[in-house]
Amino acid sequence: MLNIAVFGSGRGSNFQAILSAIETRKLPGVRIVLVVSNNSDSGILDIARRNGLPSMHLSERQFPDENAFTDAVLASLARHGADFIALAGYMKRVPQRVIAAYRNRIINIHPALLPKFGGKGMYGIHVHEAVLAAGEPVTGATVHVVDEDYDHGAVVLQRQVPVYPGDTPEILAARVLEVEHQIYPEALALFAAGKIRVPAPLQH
Ligand code: GRF
Repeated sequence: MLNIAVFGSGRGSNFQAILSAIETRKLPGVRIVLVVSNNSDSGILDIARRNGLPSMHLSERQFPDENAFTDAVLASLARHGADFIALAGYMKRVPQRVIAAYRNRIINIHPALLPKFGGKGMYGIHVHEAVLAAGEPVTGATVHVVDEDYDHGAVVLQRQVPVYPGDTPEILAARVLEVEHQIYPEALALFAAGKIRVPAPLQH
């Protein structure tokens, strides 16, 4: 059983896709144990509340320093029994000690075919603007393992979508989002089925 904490900052459509997959029994072995957001107003927290799932607003601003924030994140994860973290539109850096404690057990979704169009500044609509500016014939979405560098860890799953003449960044974002909603649940299913080998998390 994968006991997942989902971290997000905004709308929460990927989280909703994961929840829908659980509800329609496409994700056996996956349970959402906690939803965390740095944004008290986020759609992702609304979705969690509407579904009666444990959720928390946890922001570095609530703490004197990063260390205290990290302690609070780790304590919350432990209290809810989370053994896996799915980032779904989380706009903050995951603290280093959390990455170390959940080594190879944190995944993220990125709206491009990494390693292309990843890294600093490559988030949201900027990604799709850059894809169009580069004249790429295809783009897509990537689920990857999270390590200390942005958009850098091992790729778990990728799916392509075509780029059409006349696409705007918004039209392309919507086309990519559709495949995000497919591959994020699929990637979690692979982990839950033990089809992806990851070392045991370090002791913390
Ligand atoms: C998605 O496009 C995801 O790839 C990126 O942030 C966006 C989050 O959207 N990391 P949502 O909050 O899941 O709707």
